[in-house]
Amino acid sequence: MKCFLYFKDKSKAKRGSNSAPELQNQNKHKNPALDRATKSSGSLPSPRSIPELYKEKEHNLRVFTFQELRDATNGFSRLLKIGEGGFGSVYKGTIRPPNGRGNPTLVAIKKLNKNGLQGHKEWLAEVQFLGVVDHPNLVKLLGYCSIDGERGIQRLLVYEFMPNRSLEDHLFNRVLPTLPWKRRLQILLGVALGLAYLHGGLEVQVIYRDFKTSNVLLDENFHPKLSDFGLAREGPTGDRTHVSTAPVGTYGYAAPEYVELGRLSVQSDIWSFGVVLYEILTGRRALERNRPIAEQKLLLWVKQYPADSNRFSMIIDPRLRNQYSLGAAREIAKFADSCLNKNPKDRPEISQVIQSLKQAIEYSDEPTTSRNMTSKSSQSMVPKVK
Ligand SMILES: Nc1ncnc2c1ncn2[C@@H]1O[C@H](COP(=O)(O)OP(=O)(O)OP(=O)(O)O)[C@@H](O)[C@H]1O
Ligand SMILES: [Mg+2]
Repeated sequence: MKCFLYFKDKSKAKRGSNSAPELQNQNKHKNPALDRATKSSGSLPSPRSIPELYKEKEHNLRVFTFQELRDATNGFSRLLKIGEGGFGSVYKGTIRPPNGRGNPTLVAIKKLNKNGLQGHKEWLAEVQFLGVVDHPNLVKLLGYCSIDGERGIQRLLVYEFMPNRSLEDHLFNRVLPTLPWKRRLQILLGVALGLAYLHGGLEVQVIYRDFKTSNVLLDENFHPKLSDFGLAREGPTGDRTHVSTAPVGTYGYAAPEYVELGRLSVQSDIWSFGVVLYEILTGRRALERNRPIAEQKLLLWVKQYPADSNRFSMIIDPRLRNQYSLGAAREIAKFADSCLNKNPKDRPEISQVIQSLKQAIEYSDEPTTSRNMTSKSSQSMVPKVK
């Protein structure tokens, strides 16, 4: 599904004309923790912003020439094109080690459409965030190419190649074999670990902001990695509950307080996680315009089949053909409902998401399938609403 911008803040888009320095300055001045720590006794180490952390690590990224990437993709051959998103086209390519010696490496190369400043801003955010993070469930950025020539700008990103496409492909593309129930849970557990690292494992909190199935890429062993950091943002610091920003993202996945009020927090990612939980349960997309009106919006449709009702099993992905644990599916649906609480404070934290998925995987290991939960179900996976 293509990512698009909505409720776009036009004034902000205009200011993007000097977006490279803007992103750095913006982050510097909007980091109250940094300000506070600098003003206070001085004994505490100051948390650094993403651009500051990036400065320390940028040497790890390889800077490619446009010609190198053109050669790597046979001149951006249509035959090597593996995907297309809101940012541009993605090509499979082969790059040589910088010294020219050793085996070539398979890579994915994303080439920005010439769609101006918003694209540049996302490209820059992606380089900086992916240049800083390091986790087995986040895609690795190997390098980039940035050209400001007389004939316009070129922005490209070079990633490790993920041979098994995206979770979106495996859930919704009928040509591919059905993704088994347990594998669905394991994939989401993997990306939840990646999100936990972003939410709490770095010096700064990172809000991912674009959690959806097309951004979950799979390696040869179906090990998942989150990709696409163009919309990622530093989280609020100090006593703040959210950062205020113009909503951007993908229809169907964004949290209501973010869409309606521009309030962004890690709990916005948890909402999107809840949407994806329902997608793996039902095998339906968050938004499907070719269905009858009552079924187009996944979250409205599933409301008619509550997790505790007899009708619940009717929403389970028919492609699973009863090869799943009904008990675990009910618990996952209840947990998804808690992620989808209107009040962000009532949503679980990512650590609770991880715990619930681990439990659901454990239940799904038990021999019988398509059955109700055993005695273990008394330990509810749904966190208590405060
Ligand atoms: N590192 C990678 N390795 C292999 N394939 C990739 C890689 N990155 C992207 N792709 C492929 O390219 C497709 C398009 O990715 P892209 O992120 O540009 O668009 P999208 O996720 O579909 O939409 P959006 O622009 O909203 O994120 C992915 O679905 C995936 O199949
Ligand atoms: Mg994507």
